[in-house]
Amino acid sequence: MEMKTEINPWGSMEVKDYAKLRDEFGIQPFEPLLRRLKEPHLLMRRGVVFGHRDFDKIIDAVNRKESYAMMTGLMPSGKFHLGHKILAEQIIYHQQTLGANVFICVADIEAYNMRIDDMEKLREIAINEYLVNYIALGLDPKNCDFYFQSARSRDPDKANAFYRLAGMAAKKVTFNEMKAVYGEITPGKVMSVMTQVADILHPMLPEFGGYKRVVVPVGADQDPHIRLSRDIAARFEKEHKFVLPSSTYHVFIKGLKGGKMSSSDPYSYIALTDDPATAKSKIMKYAFSGGRDTLEEHRKKGGIPEVDVAYQYLYSQFEPDDKKMQQIYDDYKSGALLSGELKQILVEKMEAFLREHAKKREHARKQVDKFLK
Ligand code: TRP
Repeated sequence: MEMKTEINPWGSMEVKDYAKLRDEFGIQPFEPLLRRLKEPHLLMRRGVVFGHRDFDKIIDAVNRKESYAMMTGLMPSGKFHLGHKILAEQIIYHQQTLGANVFICVADIEAYNMRIDDMEKLREIAINEYLVNYIALGLDPKNCDFYFQSARSRDPDKANAFYRLAGMAAKKVTFNEMKAVYGEITPGKVMSVMTQVADILHPMLPEFGGYKRVVVPVGADQDPHIRLSRDIAARFEKEHKFVLPSSTYHVFIKGLKGGKMSSSDPYSYIALTDDPATAKSKIMKYAFSGGRDTLEEHRKKGGIPEVDVAYQYLYSQFEPDDKKMQQIYDDYKSGALLSGELKQILVEKMEAFLREHAKKREHARKQVDKFLK
């Protein structure tokens, strides 16, 4: 018997085989779309973005110079780390390379119900950890609607339209359907789900610029929400002209020790606020190595880049040059490059990034108000 993959957006999920997950849920592979993008993002080229639903329709819209929306959300949980950085980079790519209208939702209602019941603290984390780092990474206040689920807009027409949609979406789904998608259902989950469906579909409402394509870049754990939003979009045919939202999926960035990168375990992540010395010592001490036990063995058999965390951080975010990356792969695999040397390559790149980023963050702090209209 084949094991069926279960996706629980509120659990902790480790995926061993993304191709299998893709096939099981009818997600399309991203790779065939690469040649249709003039400048595919590094994360797309390197397969970190591994799947999509209807992203070809977004490419069509871009080519026809039709406006489209990039909509995604964040659950404020703690430190902003490398796992969060890859979503921020995609948001910025949509905004600046493809010309999207950006909608970013702080899922404070969801976080309140599922994680931390302190709205003030959630707001503080969303701004000082997420927003400040987004800005420092290059997010522009122009064409960017950054909002909280608990306070959609100061414009009453917009706010009403958003909460009306969330309320009406509930009519479009049955309890059994929700159970089939999410397993055990609680009132907090129902509220979070209906709010997220409104997040995803509302950029198409007249109050938010009207009919257009929407793409939602997410981690694979969010696919249940995407599937449900697509089903619900189709069931609004009487009231609204909605198109099925598109989506793209990225893999989870591995934690230092090989498991999940999680804000609740400082030794699993590199935060973008870590000072270079701390980051270095975390990598040197904790980063799971694909090197062999002894020098002799390593020289003879070579390292295993596929399981090496330092290698993966270089690959997914710190070495954009494909030739250099290939060289590192070959040298590590052959045993010419040692695990400590590989870590050193990463540490130098990462330290330079963190130092530069810290400066940018100081400047970013002054821009926060432009996003909180
Ligand atoms: N549920 C998402 C998370 O856990 C956050 C979120 C809320 C979201 N609304 C969204 C993601 C809309 C994508 C689109 O991180």
